[in-house]
Order: sequence, then structure tokens, then C-alpha cells
Amino acid sequence: MMTPSQPYKKSVKRAKELREILSKYSYAYHVLDTPSVSDAVYDSLFSELITIETKYPELVTSDSPTGRVGNELLGGFKKVTHSSRMLSLNDVFDRADVEAWVVRMDKLLPGARHEFFADIKMDGLACALIYENGILVQAVTRGDSYVGEDVTANVRTISNVPLRLRDAEGYKKFLIGRTEIRGEIVMLKNDFVALNEKRRAAGEPEFANPRNLAAGTIRQLDPKLVAARPLSFRAYDLLRQAATDVPTNMYAYEALSALGISRNKEASIFGNLDGVMAFIDEWSEKRHDLPFDTDGLVVKVNDRAQFAELGVVGKQPRAAVAFKYAAEQATTVVKDIVISIGRTGAATPVAVFDPVVVAGTTVQHASLHNADEIARLDIRVGDTVVIFKAGDIIPQVESVVKELRPKHTKPFQFEEALKHQYPELSFIRPEGEVVYRVKGATGVLLLAKAVQHFASKGALDIDTLGEKNVVALVNAGLVKDLADIYTITKTQLLRLDRFADISAGKLIDAIADKRKPLLERFVYGLGIRHVGTQTAIDLINAFKSLENLRNATIDQLKAIDGIGEVVAESVAAWFADPDNETLLTKFGELNVKPVFEKKTGKFTGQNFVVTGTLESLPRDEVAEKIRELGGTFQSAVAKDTTYLITGGKVGESKLKKASQYGTTILNEKEFIDLLEK
Ligand code: IVH
Repeated sequence: MMTPSQPYKKSVKRAKELREILSKYSYAYHVLDTPSVSDAVYDSLFSELITIETKYPELVTSDSPTGRVGNELLGGFKKVTHSSRMLSLNDVFDRADVEAWVVRMDKLLPGARHEFFADIKMDGLACALIYENGILVQAVTRGDSYVGEDVTANVRTISNVPLRLRDAEGYKKFLIGRTEIRGEIVMLKNDFVALNEKRRAAGEPEFANPRNLAAGTIRQLDPKLVAARPLSFRAYDLLRQAATDVPTNMYAYEALSALGISRNKEASIFGNLDGVMAFIDEWSEKRHDLPFDTDGLVVKVNDRAQFAELGVVGKQPRAAVAFKYAAEQATTVVKDIVISIGRTGAATPVAVFDPVVVAGTTVQHASLHNADEIARLDIRVGDTVVIFKAGDIIPQVESVVKELRPKHTKPFQFEEALKHQYPELSFIRPEGEVVYRVKGATGVLLLAKAVQHFASKGALDIDTLGEKNVVALVNAGLVKDLADIYTITKTQLLRLDRFADISAGKLIDAIADKRKPLLERFVYGLGIRHVGTQTAIDLINAFKSLENLRNATIDQLKAIDGIGEVVAESVAAWFADPDNETLLTKFGELNVKPVFEKKTGKFTGQNFVVTGTLESLPRDEVAEKIRELGGTFQSAVAKDTTYLITGGKVGESKLKKASQYGTTILNEKEFIDLLEK
């Protein structure tokens, strides 16, 4: 029998925990009307559960909250089968998604011109109103999309639902036979606030948000109670037996107004995608001022014949999408807390996460600022946390979902972690400060060392920028970070004792010459802990651009041959430090563009390992030569090693590995011959 894998076991446990916490939240939300977390947090945990269940379908239990189709049917109301399914919409999140949607439609209806119809998406509960000969006869909730609940008595108490349709010139056909109006029942924000004020005054518990309250209210069995809660109805659809009665969605909206039904006045039509995108941008902020809550827009094909022709996939029509403004909150798991040392010697803790999308971008780390902040949040490795984007840009940890904390975790020990990560350094936390700093090393010294490293032979190789020049530049305040070397002018240099016309000119030229350094040299030059020349090359060969490297997850980093946990975390932490983010942006602005260049030559596709010391060539030159000819220099013999070059005696274990992997062993002379062949 196969034993279950570690990740599988972890998923089993996680799915169980998620189901428990989601049903707890759901109870607080639906039954108690007092949600314990925001919708975004609920949705985020919910989608994590879906991910696990999709990967391991056998983990789906009959009581999983993901197994619900739409809203659960409650007892107590008569069930009514809808005249046509009450569909939901596919979500889209950005321009690319919207474009892809249009492309899909174009493929199905080649040559057809689409006119788009867009409206605000209301955050309430869907309801169908059925009018017979102009008289309201029935109101039905969405239910499971096929069958809903008859909530007519409750809906009749909603003051803006007409019990009889208005008799309007031009729209008389809607007063004959069956007219179905679909829309959303919402509680307006003002009404919600006023109701809560009343409850507070009466000493009753307040409600948490309008949507829950609306949903909870409409399912009350006592219509008197419903009448006491101010609900509103806003329509978005008009259905007739003869589809041609309603040629376009815009026509439906005009008819709804004429018939005395509330609908959003903001709805508009657009001839092209740019118009739709402008509408999306327009409402991104303005939506907060609408009288009801909204989480996005609905975009549909305006022409209803086209709409019908495009058909339905699953529960969603192809001809409409819901544009969702990005959630500003999400949950994820803290994989690690690493500490990065900034240019001034300050130790900044960074939380490393499982990647998660927040407000439209993938987040995988956030600064935790300092030891006090970690203690305040009591954030621990393994915790599930709520993250949000402060000012929509910088991700921050908001809180810890303590219910999902694994057993046996310990509070994060800052000083212990410092000792563990930086055994060779000592730190102090100056009186009254929240930040630990490297003891003794002043900012200037650290900076000078960093710049020297950046200019060193293995990095950018600016030989005129040696130790003394660097110290002079740093002391003069001309260089405050690595990128500053590209801002120095000749005039500035001439003011310093060390420089005369020729030497100043030479330095400026040498720096200017290195505006397009090789990417691996640049990455090495950044001085990321544990990233030496070889690691920089491995990273670059794997990711091929700074942008990719910047976005790499710890798992992706670890997947590279020769890169382990420590290096991966160090790289991730470096890119997570906002100071470094700023530094990279600055390089870009100064037009410093490292280039990726894959060398090719007779060693392309071949991998080399050197063991021992070669007499005629230092190790780094051997590496350089191999790379120059397109080969890869590896740190240890692996399955794909082509040659093991031996200086002196070869260790037993290396020999064994080499023969096991079919690696060819070369002595120094044989290697030189190969080079010169
Ligand atoms: S049009 C085929 N327009 O969002 C469904 N829906 O995810 C066409 N909603 O089921 C729906 N505001 O409950 C439409 N202006 C609006 C809406 C809206 C809210 C709800 C509705 C629908 C769900 C789609």
C-alpha cells in the first residue's frame, strides 16, 4: 500500500480545519447576522479550500461549504421552479481578462459587432418578481438557481416594489400576460446606518453589514419583521415569453423605468472595450459613494439575440461577466520569518508567505517592521494571516487567524532568530528604539563595503572604483546607495581632494561603461547574503530577468539545482525589503539595465564540476572559461554532470557518484586539451 505523502497529509488536515472555521464564520454570518470576519477573508479561505479540493477531489465531504450551490434552501417557504435558470456570472479582474472575454465571444460570433452594456453590480440577494397582467403575483429567491423560495409576503413589504406595474405609453405589452423582473434586494447604506442607530439607542446588538442583513431579513418567516427593516429592490433584468419583446439590455432598463421599477441610472452602453474600461476606471473609487454596497460591475452584450446565441457554459452565460474590483484583503500562510539587514545596519523582519493575490498583485512577503510589531501581532511561523495593501501598494499583515494556528508553535524569538541567521554579527537595540542594529558597524562603513563589493572584479568590475575612492565618495555624501554611483558628475569629483581632471574623467567613463552590466554580475554585486558568483549565475540562468527573480517564490528558488532553503530565503527576503525595492527602481530610472546573455559555444549543454586544485588555472578562471564557451559550472556532481575535472586526488564518494551518473572524469591535462581542441 502506498503511504500518503507529506503534502497530502497536510492538505487533509488543512481542509478539515478550513471547513470547520468556514462553517463557524458562516453561522455567525447567516444565523447570528454578526460576521466575525470580512467577506474578503472568508472568500480567501474559501478559495484555499476549493484549491485543495480540486487537487484532491476525494477530500470533498458532503458537508463542505464548497458543495453549496448558490444559497441553501431553507425550510418554511414554498419551493418554486424558476421559468429559466437564475444564472451567475464569471468573474474578471483586469483589462486582460475583459479582453480575453471579448476574444472568446469573437471566436463564437465571428464578424459580429458587440455593443456593450455595463451596470453597477449590487451586493445584495437576487430575487425574481413575477407580474401577471401587471399585478405582482409572486417573488422568488434565487435558491439553487433552478428552484427558489416563495418570499412573496416579505417582498410585498418592500416599499419600492410596485404591486402593480405602471401603465406607460409604448410599454403596454408588459401589462399583458407574464412579465418577470429580476433584480437585487439590497439595504441602502443610509437605511442600514439609521437602523443600527435605532438599535443602539434601544440597547439591541447592531448588525454587521447591509448584505447579510438584507439576506437574513428576506428569509424571516414573519413579514411584520421584514416590514420593519428598510429593504430596497433594484432590477437588472426583464423577461418575457417572447424574447423579441426585449431587444436589448438598454431597452430592458428603459422599460423597467417606464413600468415604475427602480434600476440603476448609472447603466450605460459602449461601442467598444475602451469605453467599458473607462467606465470601470470611473467607478473604481466613485462606487464607494453609491447608496448601496457594490463589489464591481456587470458587463453584458447589449443585444439580447446575440446574448442568447452565445449561450451558457455551466452556470454562466458567455455574454456577460462580473468585473470585480480587487479585494484589498486576503489570507495566506506564513512560511517563515526572516530578518534582513539594511544599509544602515537595521534588522528588519520579513514574513514570507505562500503567494496570494491581494488588490490585483501577487504578494509573497511583507515587512513586519520590528520586534515589537511581531509581538503585538503574535505572528508565528505556520500561522494563517490576513494581509491587506496599505495605500493599495505595500502589503501588510493585519492580523493572525488564531483558530488556524498549528499546534506546538512558539512565539517568534527575535534575538534568537538574529543569532541563528547572523551568527557572526552582534546586535544592539538602543534605549527607547524599536529597531535592532548591527553593533559597531556604522552605516557609512556598511555602505562603503557594499559599494566596493558592487564595483569589485566579480561584480561590475569598475577597477577605478577601489576602496579609497569609494570611501571618499561615501564620506562626501555623494553616494548614499549603490545606484548613486551613476549620478556622480565630474564637477562633484573635482571638488574632492582625490580627483584631478584625468582621474575624475576616467572614473566617470568607467562607471558610464557599466550601465548595461551582465545580469549575473549585477545580481552578485547587489550583495545579497549567500549569493556568490556561482549562485548568481544559477539564479540568472533559471529566471533570466531581474523581474522574474524578484517575483520568484521560495519554492521556485529552491527548485534550482544547488540552491537550498537558506539561500532561497535570503534572496526572497532581500527582494522583500522595501529599501531594496526602491533601490531597484532607482537603477531603472537611472537607465541602468542589466542584460541577460546566455553564452553559447562548444560547451553548450555540458555541465562541469571541478574538484581539488588545478595547477595551471585558478578555480574561478576555470569557471569563467567554461561559461564563456556556453558550459555550466556546477558545485557538485549531479545526474546531469558531463565532466568531473580533477586537480590531484579524487575523493572516493565523488568517484562513486561520477561512475553512477556516467560522468566522464578528466585530469587537468585532459581538460586543457579539451579547452584547446
Ligand atoms: S445581470 C445572468 N446586473 O450578480 C445573470 N446582475 O454574479 C445576469 N447582480 O445573479 C445578471 N447587480 O444577483 C446583473 N446590475 C446587475 C447586478 C447583478 C447584482 C447580481 C445578480 C447576479 C449576480 C451575478
